[in-house]
Amino acid sequence: MDIRVYFSEEKEAVDRHLADIIARWPAADSAGYRLAEAMAYSLNAGGKRLRPILTLTAYRACGGEGEHVYSGACALEMIHTYTLIHDDLPVMDNDDFRRGLPTCHRKFGVRRAVNAGPGLLLAAFEELTRSAEALGLTEREKKDVVLSVAEAVGGGGVVGGQMVDLESENKKVDRQTLHFIHSHKTGALIRVSCTLGGRLAHADGTKLEALARYGEKIGLAFQIVDDLLDIEGDTEKLGKQVGADQARGKATFPSVFGLEESRRLAARAVEEAKEELQRANLLQASPLGPITDFILSRKS
Ligand code: IPE
Ligand code: IPE
Ligand code: MG
Ligand code: MG
Ligand code: MG
Repeated sequence: MDIRVYFSEEKEAVDRHLADIIARWPAADSAGYRLAEAMAYSLNAGGKRLRPILTLTAYRACGGEGEHVYSGACALEMIHTYTLIHDDLPVMDNDDFRRGLPTCHRKFGVRRAVNAGPGLLLAAFEELTRSAEALGLTEREKKDVVLSVAEAVGGGGVVGGQMVDLESENKKVDRQTLHFIHSHKTGALIRVSCTLGGRLAHADGTKLEALARYGEKIGLAFQIVDDLLDIEGDTEKLGKQVGADQARGKATFPSVFGLEESRRLAARAVEEAKEELQRANLLQASPLGPITDFILSRKS
């Protein structure tokens, strides 16, 4: 399978479904438009669409079919975009460029960017609920879908990780804290992207646990590679400024382990992730394998 073709076709499909969602938001002549405009700007700025593609792919690997999964998958891209808008704010990483464009607050001001965040986050839960409903999930399954995503994004997940990331700036962090930061600020959403695909396909507990372990490992690898790209990557390709971590004294894998060891740790996590897929019979005839390799080899 040519993974680039798969990514570009699925990115196109995700973008089409996102456009349908955006079309339901307040129109240009209405009072709510100024907020919707900022939400749509960051969502439309591009990006790899990795999280929704993981959801779709896990869904199909677990036997799911049809189009209703897309709104659930898009929900995760909306949540991801909210985290990026807030991550870039002056009180957080203070970045000016994202996805090749001025960041949300640089374009619309801090007030609109701050509100666009929860706007996207809560619109995502609407989509998630629609998707679970349309796919005929039981009440119990629907509850688990909403709870699992809320847990992944909240204080015990992304938001908790972001807080420790900020509090660790310009401090010497131990390996445990570093692992906590990466597995929460980034790993938690990637992990739930995988399990959500399984949940929407009515996967059994064994498959969900395998997807969770898989997501945990690629989530960690993804953030280690993000740290590496901030040193070795290309601003143009990444669509964001490189060298920002060192300038801000961020706790990163290269700052604690060095470049060589960080590369090795990312590669090991990816290998372990593939072993999880193999054990759960999710590797054969699924693009999950090539996606896993992409996590390590990506340049953007
Ligand atoms: C960037 O995520 C933020 C991190 C969690 C490291 P991505 O690298 O997936 O960004 P986009 O969505 O492609 O822009
Ligand atoms: C990303 O961490 C975590 C979230 C956005 C939740 P970074 O701060 O390293 O992401 P980039 O490098 O700005 O994309
Ligand atoms: Mg950050
Ligand atoms: Mg950042
Ligand atoms: Mg980074």
